[in-house]
Amino acid sequence: MWGGRFAAGPSAIMREINASIPFDKALWRQDIAASKAHVAMLGAQGIVTTADALAIRDGLDAVAAEYEASGVPEDWDLEDIHMTTESRLAELIGPAAGRLHTARSRNDQVATDFRLWVRDACDQALAGLHALQTALVARAGEHAASIMPGFTHLQTAQPVTLGHHLLAYYEMAARDVSRFADARARMNRCPLGAAALAGTGFAIDRHMTAQALGFAGPTANSLDSVSDRDFALDYLMAAAQCALHLSRLAEEFIIWASQPFGFVTLPDSLSTGSSIMPQKKNPDAAELVRGHSGRIIGALTSLMITMKGLPLAYSKDMQDDKPPVFEAAGLLTLCLAAMTGMVEGATFRTQRMRAAAELGYATATDLADWLVRQANIPFREAHHITGSAVKLAEGRGVALDALTLAELQAIDPRIDDRVFAALSVEASVASRASHGGTAPAQVQQRVAEARAALGLE
Ligand code: ARG
Repeated sequence: MWGGRFAAGPSAIMREINASIPFDKALWRQDIAASKAHVAMLGAQGIVTTADALAIRDGLDAVAAEYEASGVPEDWDLEDIHMTTESRLAELIGPAAGRLHTARSRNDQVATDFRLWVRDACDQALAGLHALQTALVARAGEHAASIMPGFTHLQTAQPVTLGHHLLAYYEMAARDVSRFADARARMNRCPLGAAALAGTGFAIDRHMTAQALGFAGPTANSLDSVSDRDFALDYLMAAAQCALHLSRLAEEFIIWASQPFGFVTLPDSLSTGSSIMPQKKNPDAAELVRGHSGRIIGALTSLMITMKGLPLAYSKDMQDDKPPVFEAAGLLTLCLAAMTGMVEGATFRTQRMRAAAELGYATATDLADWLVRQANIPFREAHHITGSAVKLAEGRGVALDALTLAELQAIDPRIDDRVFAALSVEASVASRASHGGTAPAQVQQRVAEARAALGLE
């Protein structure tokens, strides 16, 4: 493809280090689509004859049919998917194939193909997130009033509802959706026609190719067009943050599934056994989601480091942009599907959750709040009084509401028997009815809003 200037061919090492076909063959559909858009435009503009444009179009369809049927051949001498396709096109239709590369370069070609691929990856992530959100909202609605301990520092803090806990992950997923949608909108400009770096002297119509490929319009600067990989980084940043959320959710399930917690039984379909310990049921899928998130974050780091030292415009380092993105996209799809399946298939052990909420003096804040409201005691003093009550209960090894009225009044005489109504975990969660609070009524309201936002109504 570029032999004219060279006296000798590349060494075996050069061929191997140069070849991207082993991985960029994944771009073949995008490469064919972009070439078809390009040649239709060359024909419409009279840059190639209509007959040649049609022959090239039909030839590209024939190449695509071959790839579809038997895969993309991997010949290192042909370097990448662009040369592989053009060379096969030449075999099929003869010299007219050589006109396809008029007014373009592999630099704008790869930038276009890769944008199209990453745009699809955004759509795939958005679909996966929608499924996860749908599952979270369904289980949250089911468990709007199921009580569990809420934690800070992984220490029992206050009772919350399981529905509320699940909706926290719905919110994270909603922010992920907005990040992928934002990345998609920003990347939706077509670099085709930037050519090698400076644009082209041919009278091309960049608006036509942009429109044919579903872009909002052409990119504005040819140097930026061939050297920009922000679109891939935007995708990876959204993917890394989404993976981080999935990892946190996976970690919750791992903790909850452990015997001392026993809050959840994971679906058999997403668990494994042990070859030596017959009693074991391991949360491997959740652990792998936690593990894969590290690789997705690594992909982001990898591409940032590839790009950070590159002057304008294209440098061959940029060929290394694809493996991390392909890897991250594959892993993210898997992780989203695994966590969706886990949320859908988990059996929540609500009795154990409720019992755990009653341990650890989770309603101590409710006692302090009651003292503020009923006895008009300043919160700091109420906090101190409640601390004494917790100390007494702890010494006796009982829950707060198992203390007698006499014992409580010995701590502070302003306490009366109405206090017991405030000390149950049900009263505690029901009282937290501030906007976005854990009260079952609030959770039901958020579920209804989420269902509408997801288009489930
Ligand atoms: N295989 C190359 C890549 O992925 C295509 C662009 C090659 N451009 C060039 N000037 N050698 O980046």
